[in-house]
Amino acid sequence: MRLFIDTGSVDEVREIAAWGVLAGATTNPSLLAKSGDDPGDAIRRICELVDGPVSAEVVSDDPERMVVEGRALRALHEHVTVKVPFGAAGLQATRALSDEGIPVNMTLVFTPTQAILSAEAGATYVSCFMGRLDDVSVDSAAVLAEIVGALRPAGAAVQVLAASIRHPEHVVTAATLGCEVATVPAKVLRQMLNHPLTAEGIAKFDADWQSRPELARWLDSLTGTVAVR
Ligand code: G3P
Repeated sequence: MRLFIDTGSVDEVREIAAWGVLAGATTNPSLLAKSGDDPGDAIRRICELVDGPVSAEVVSDDPERMVVEGRALRALHEHVTVKVPFGAAGLQATRALSDEGIPVNMTLVFTPTQAILSAEAGATYVSCFMGRLDDVSVDSAAVLAEIVGALRPAGAAVQVLAASIRHPEHVVTAATLGCEVATVPAKVLRQMLNHPLTAEGIAKFDADWQSRPELARWLDSLTGTVAVR
């Protein structure tokens, strides 16, 4: 499963992209508004940092205007994927944009039927929201399993993108269910990274290594450099 970062913050993208684990990013109007940066500059810089698909969302509710906004967003950078909110207008705009060869990420999808319609409209990605389902006491894992199950048999080209990720277990569930992508906030990516037993293990290795100073000298000679301690 590929990992995208879900943010409008260039700084967050730069931090996590350094780990070498990101295949793309997703933004949305709320995330771009929160970042405070110029949206076009932020989108272009994020595209360069992740060197992969970056979703930028249209904001109109009119299908023809959605297409106009989508073309303009796509023109920002070759990595831009146009994000379109689900609905009749969104389906119409998705069909038009995908027919022009512009990749679409259909977002705000909460049911298998919405996912099927999105696939038939030509969406490249279907963003299936997990956290917002859990927020209203709907089992997001069950819904995501239905969506994956509904799209797989037809061999649909559409990629299931797990979104609205609230904690590391959502990422594990998405991977286990066979989603192609999970888009993950920086906070959750950091939670995925950190574990007290890992930190404790590194500290123990270091203490034991330091207990015999000749070991550090050996490694310095092996590398031909002196480690900064
Ligand atoms: O960006 C799309 C989605 O991941 C946002 O979800 O619920 O965190 O706003 P949420």
